[in-house]
Amino acid sequence: MTNFDIVPNRRNTNSIKWLRYPKDVLPMWVADMDFSAPKPILKALHKAVDHGVMGYEMPTPALKETVAARMDKLYGWKIKPEAVVAVTGIVSGLSVAARIACTPKKGVLIQTPVYNEFHEVKNNLGIPQLDAPLITRVDGRILNYKIDWDIFEKQVKKAGMFLLCNPHNPLGIIFSRSELLKMAKICIQNNVLIVSDEIHSELLLDGNTFTPLAKLSSDIARHTITLIAPSKTFNVPGLFCGFAIITDPELRERYEKEVNHLRMHVSSAGLIAAQAAFSGQCDGWLNELRHYLTLNRNFLVEYVAEYMPNVRMTIPDATYLGWLDFTQTGIVGSPYEFFLKNAKVAVSEGLIFGAEGEGHIRLNFGTSRKLLEQGLDRMRKALNSI
Ligand SMILES: Cc1ncc(COP(=O)(O)O)c(C=O)c1O
Repeated sequence: MTNFDIVPNRRNTNSIKWLRYPKDVLPMWVADMDFSAPKPILKALHKAVDHGVMGYEMPTPALKETVAARMDKLYGWKIKPEAVVAVTGIVSGLSVAARIACTPKKGVLIQTPVYNEFHEVKNNLGIPQLDAPLITRVDGRILNYKIDWDIFEKQVKKAGMFLLCNPHNPLGIIFSRSELLKMAKICIQNNVLIVSDEIHSELLLDGNTFTPLAKLSSDIARHTITLIAPSKTFNVPGLFCGFAIITDPELRERYEKEVNHLRMHVSSAGLIAAQAAFSGQCDGWLNELRHYLTLNRNFLVEYVAEYMPNVRMTIPDATYLGWLDFTQTGIVGSPYEFFLKNAKVAVSEGLIFGAEGEGHIRLNFGTSRKLLEQGLDRMRKALNSI
């Protein structure tokens, strides 16, 4: 059994999460967890270090077979190993897709509020960004989000690519099968490439299940680039290794050509970690992690309900990210600034996910329950002082 209550000290590393803010600030922002990676990954990396030679390495057929076998094992999704393209992370992988699908006239469609890096694609490539904001439904103090189909259909007409985030960061939603089918149908009718960022797909809370969009039909698969990675699930984001799954040979050829143009070589450490992560050897650890994260999510939801009056939040189905709405609490200005100054807690500013994030924050609960409780206690005290 892994004891997730014990987290290593990260202040003595180069961690962005722990070094960005002064020492008295508790970091609950960027999406990495405070847990050690599972032992089989560490063992594989130790073995490579012990070998001593850190030469150039390649994504081998065996690694691609491992990725394909994992898709089959998890979802019954049968893909050929050659459909798997290694990329230096999901953000670079989605940028490559935008380079082949978008133009100054055909932009990138996103569903806001959404992962901040999705908002950078337009800046990186000089293309339009088309927002299809999700509709917020408030049920007591619980936030639910639904697709606004009118806006989606209007915006898709101006897009070259639809960037789907499923499970969704920062909302923690897993889109339903009928929503996925409808989004895909609209994109295909409008000849829009679908890029499905499924980086959080294995971080399922409770007993939730997940189906890759491209598994829903061969027609959808032909129009879709699926992006997955071991980075969030097994907490190895600093090793920068992800995979684009592209079943259509012609689309894959165009994508691989662009990857090669950009000289996107994955580090040997990333490839080694991915092989161990997706081999199945880490699945016991992953089940324990999901259980721990589910309890953390429950702790957060109950804490907010009991001690933070007027705060609303989503109940994430997946991810270790909470989305909290402070617009009814009397905080003046940004809650991110408020908590940084008054609680010494660094969360993510809601506005980085889109204009709909005003008055909201994203809170990373991928840490020990003790640190989570400490952060929430600090925030509660600050709220009480308003
Ligand atoms: C939805 C989503 N995509 C991509 C990433 C980052 O991926 P990478 O570090 O592989 O570029 C994150 C990290 O938080 C994320 O939440």
